[in-house]
Amino acid sequence: MGTALAPRATAGRGACARLCVACALVLGACFIALAAAFWLRQRGEPAGVNCWRFPTSNSLFIEGRLRCWELGRARRATALVLDLHGYTVNSTQQRGLSRFEQVAGPGGALVAWPNGVRASWNAGSCCGLAAALGIDDVAFLRALIARLRARHPTIRHVYATGHSNGCMMAQRLALDAPDALAAVACMAGYLQAQPARIPAPAPVALLEVHCRDDPVVTFEPRAGEWPGAEANLEAWRQLDECERASRSTRWSNDSSTLIEYTRCARGQTHVRAALLSLARCGHSPYRPRNPSAHSSRGNETVTEVAWAFMLAASAAT
Ligand SMILES: *[C@@H]1O[C@H](CO)[C@@H](O)[C@H](O)[C@H]1NC(C)=O
Ligand SMILES: *[C@@H]1O[C@H](CO)[C@@H](O)[C@H](O)[C@H]1NC(C)=O
Ligand SMILES: *[C@@H]1O[C@H](CO)[C@@H](O)[C@H](O)[C@H]1NC(C)=O
Repeated sequence: MGTALAPRATAGRGACARLCVACALVLGACFIALAAAFWLRQRGEPAGVNCWRFPTSNSLFIEGRLRCWELGRARRATALVLDLHGYTVNSTQQRGLSRFEQVAGPGGALVAWPNGVRASWNAGSCCGLAAALGIDDVAFLRALIARLRARHPTIRHVYATGHSNGCMMAQRLALDAPDALAAVACMAGYLQAQPARIPAPAPVALLEVHCRDDPVVTFEPRAGEWPGAEANLEAWRQLDECERASRSTRWSNDSSTLIEYTRCARGQTHVRAALLSLARCGHSPYRPRNPSAHSSRGNETVTEVAWAFMLAASAAT
């Protein structure tokens, strides 16, 4: 018995060793493949800004990362506007694109242009490394607001705006940090995060501006990708508890249409849910390609429309 068993046990040990080697090889290959995939993914990502080059007054540590922002000037700021860049671009580019400081600065707004992680915001299901890594951008923006409010105690209202992925992030902020914001008015982006409940615990006035010919974040719904501008407005109608019957068209012609729900949030007059749609401007409402089809009634820029919406939203509070 004993002699008969011994070779078989040795053979068993040999098979086991071979199995172990095979397992190790497979695991090693998996690890290398994962590392390569991660490296390729990183390579495909935009670089983002180097926050170490920002002054310490314009950066903070959160979640073990250095985050940073550009800041406009204001003597005695009564308002703070966070202007969030789109995916693949940065604070400097957004600053030039929106010209928010030129528009809102004279009215007492301090404008900040924060930077996302690798040029992206974790707005929920969309865009780049920030979402893939689960970065808590709501926490970062809250910390930024707290920092700026502490330094500028005259600030009374805080607003968020932005473009594309930045607009998605502004809407997520309205959803997750409604106590921190008076209104959101932003361009070419939809809410990408799931609300915890409807209506929202605290309603926030919201205007979304969208070009009807946007080839990137489409105006019409696109299955599995974008809800479309009307569905986004409907989401905010529900979150803000606006009465269906209070839908009205403030103006409409070949170049632009402004739709608003005006009776929202159980009679809180400052809360509105609105959609400004523009005829021909692609993914950037800021610079309509066809100047005759300008952004709104008359000749205002969308930044001017956004700022007017923000001011109207806080005038009643
Ligand atoms: C943002 O990108 C532009 C264009 O690449 C660059 O000129 C600018 O310095 C960048 N801004 C920052 C803060 O890195
Ligand atoms: C669109 O309507 C507004 C307001 O009624 C008007 O001021 C503007 O000139 C019109 N634009 C065009 C292109 O018709
Ligand atoms: C915009 O319209 C106003 C009033 O109609 C006019 O005074 C102003 O010059 C116009 N601005 C531009 C840039 O066309």
